[in-house]
Amino acid sequence: MANVHIRPGWQLPEREVTPEGLWVNRREFVKKAGSGALVAAATLACGDGDGNGLGVVPDGHGPLDNIPDTPTANLYPEAPNDPRFTPGDRHNVVNPELDAASYNNFYEFGTDHGNVWRHVIPFEARPWSLTVSGLVDNPGTYDLVDLERRFQLQERIYRHRCVERWSVVIPWIGFPLRELLDYVGVQNLATHIAYITFHRPEQAVGQRTQTWYTWPYYEGLRIDEAYNDLAFVATGMYGHPLQKQNGAPIRLHMPWKYGYKSSKSIVELVVTDEQPRTFWNDLQPGEYGFYSNIDPDTPHPRWSQAEERIIGGDGWIPTLPFNGYGEYVADLYGGYVTPPGDVPHAN
Ligand code: MTE
Repeated sequence: MANVHIRPGWQLPEREVTPEGLWVNRREFVKKAGSGALVAAATLACGDGDGNGLGVVPDGHGPLDNIPDTPTANLYPEAPNDPRFTPGDRHNVVNPELDAASYNNFYEFGTDHGNVWRHVIPFEARPWSLTVSGLVDNPGTYDLVDLERRFQLQERIYRHRCVERWSVVIPWIGFPLRELLDYVGVQNLATHIAYITFHRPEQAVGQRTQTWYTWPYYEGLRIDEAYNDLAFVATGMYGHPLQKQNGAPIRLHMPWKYGYKSSKSIVELVVTDEQPRTFWNDLQPGEYGFYSNIDPDTPHPRWSQAEERIIGGDGWIPTLPFNGYGEYVADLYGGYVTPPGDVPHAN
């Protein structure tokens, strides 16, 4: 049976990679689209412009040059695609890496999406460890290199939909979150997990200058969401370890939720019996809920969520409930996409 593979519908096929010649980078895309609205939404979504000066960018250093050195780098090119593919029917491209690496949301490094790749240069993303605590049998601090070697790394091509209405398709490499949870031994009383990003103002200009944010960035999930097949821990992308601007060296990817649930550069995981507080919900509870499932029928208070623009694509396409992954996750929510009470404006 080892060679018999069943592909789930959430896995997009590798053969749909866009030829490099068709590439349009995200800044070009925003410009081409003439999308004042998109840019305004990006700013409105989560705060004002950062006002950060750029640090010195070494000559010749580009968006693809932010992969931290690691002795595990050799594991990444070998990571097999999760073999359980079926063709995606919506986004028929995988974005070229330059798209994914040159337009980012990572508030620790400012709010200027096109410059995050420059701001991350001083960030020391390796070596790294993850501290696990709370309702687990094996609490402790785990060296990331050991985790990368322990789990069979695999590739997953996921759609990503930002609350700001842009979307992108990225081949991530990593391991299912449930494997990590099983390894640390989640106890029966657990109902949720919380995950927390680093706090290093000396390396992260946004943490230094945007003092109105409640650093470090923190997020959470219900335990059954965390155990869902789709919940993924990404440590790599495009056949190598993660670029710093994409959340090196370890982030989550939750493809049926708005992007802000997919925290980057995580240092701590807490297994708990309470619903954890979350960064954006604490800042703007009327706008950002705990569940934050992608829902075209529940507008953000300041813009519709009915459509999105895929980076490099032509114009707007309809947004799908759960980002098109409903088949795998809808039964977690008892018939709702946005559960009652998740955001007050939806009631
Ligand atoms: N994680 C941290 N720590 N800080 C952030 O500001 N932004 C989120 C998410 N993870 C964010 C984060 C948002 S809003 C999005 S859309 C995605 O990262 C963007 O991921 P990408 O830049 O790799 O496309």
